[in-house]
Amino acid sequence: MRVLVTGGAGYIGSHTAKELARSGHEPIVLDDLSAGHRWAVKWGPLAQGDLADQYFVSRTIRDFAIEAVIHFAADAKVGESVEQPRKYYWHNVVNSLKLADAMLDAGVKTIVFSSSAATYGVPTESPIPEEHVKLPVNPYGETKLTTERMLGDYAIAYGLQWMALRYFNACGADPAGEIGEDHDPESHMIPSAIEAALGQRPYVEIFGTDYPTPDGTAIRDYIHVTDLGRAHVRALEHLASGGESTAVNLGTGHGNSVREVIAAVQKFCDRQMPVREGPRRAGDPPVLVAGVEKAERLLGWTAEYREIDAIVETAWKWHVAHRSA
Ligand SMILES: NC(=O)c1ccc[n+]([C@@H]2O[C@H](COP(=O)([O-])OP(=O)(O)OC[C@H]3O[C@@H](n4cnc5c(N)ncnc54)[C@H](O)[C@@H]3O)[C@@H](O)[C@H]2O)c1
Repeated sequence: MRVLVTGGAGYIGSHTAKELARSGHEPIVLDDLSAGHRWAVKWGPLAQGDLADQYFVSRTIRDFAIEAVIHFAADAKVGESVEQPRKYYWHNVVNSLKLADAMLDAGVKTIVFSSSAATYGVPTESPIPEEHVKLPVNPYGETKLTTERMLGDYAIAYGLQWMALRYFNACGADPAGEIGEDHDPESHMIPSAIEAALGQRPYVEIFGTDYPTPDGTAIRDYIHVTDLGRAHVRALEHLASGGESTAVNLGTGHGNSVREVIAAVQKFCDRQMPVREGPRRAGDPPVLVAGVEKAERLLGWTAEYREIDAIVETAWKWHVAHRSA
């Protein structure tokens, strides 16, 4: 299939483009490079432009004879979404609406959408099943949930086939070292710890040490980005073969605490990593772990990277090579 990958110059999008190409599909990246990188587009052409430009999106779909869409392009900083909800609703909801309309106008009916564990808010059970009540605690999570609901309504009315993949904590890098995570500024746990270990930031901060968890720090489900890429290909093929349109969690099904992640990064480093202990952040639940049974059942997909050390190793190797390149 010729697949439009919005946000394909970004972290998860570029790893998915690689997996698409490996599976015999053709990724066509649509990205404005606002947060992505030209060097990360290696497996197909780049249509550089803004998703908000509906004429540009429609023309790209037509010019490349697109057959399906994987939609990553979004703003994804939780704190920023609280300060600038306007930006998040316009970029994440309105742009998704424009994309869905451009698809329908062009007769393209299949979309895989980047959703998030943020749709659940503060969960009342762990692991979290997909049918868990959805009460996002920030505008970012609201924009993802609203877009999921829009896709569901478009499916009923216009026959759109969709899958929302709710990622937990994306991490790691391409094991071949071709691409990896490069956000500026970096707010994610593993690259932040690596930067602190390498002296590229003064310290890594632990937000909260008094959670009701074994070591007092928050527990998250760290899912390797190559596993995410594979899941997107499975989702696309599932929909193409007439499979159910629905939302599916992507995680490993088990969690690691912040201290465990820091310890895993420390193993790669001779000097002692500077760590600062701070208060909890508002809206950060103690534990977020994915229920993974639905992904296994529907997509035949499970995470191959299950150990935090192996995940960190890919991130560390890429970071060291990329930053010294
Ligand atoms: N990283 C995570 O842990 C995580 C977890 C859950 C969900 N997600 C979702 O996954 C998706 C990808 O996340 P990521 O970490 O790869 O982010 P990223 O910032 O690395 O990638 C996003 C890409 O979209 C592009 N983009 C943004 N707005 C655009 C626009 N208007 N027009 C064209 N291109 C635009 C950026 O240039 C960038 O290349 C996002 O939708 C995010 O909300 C990420």
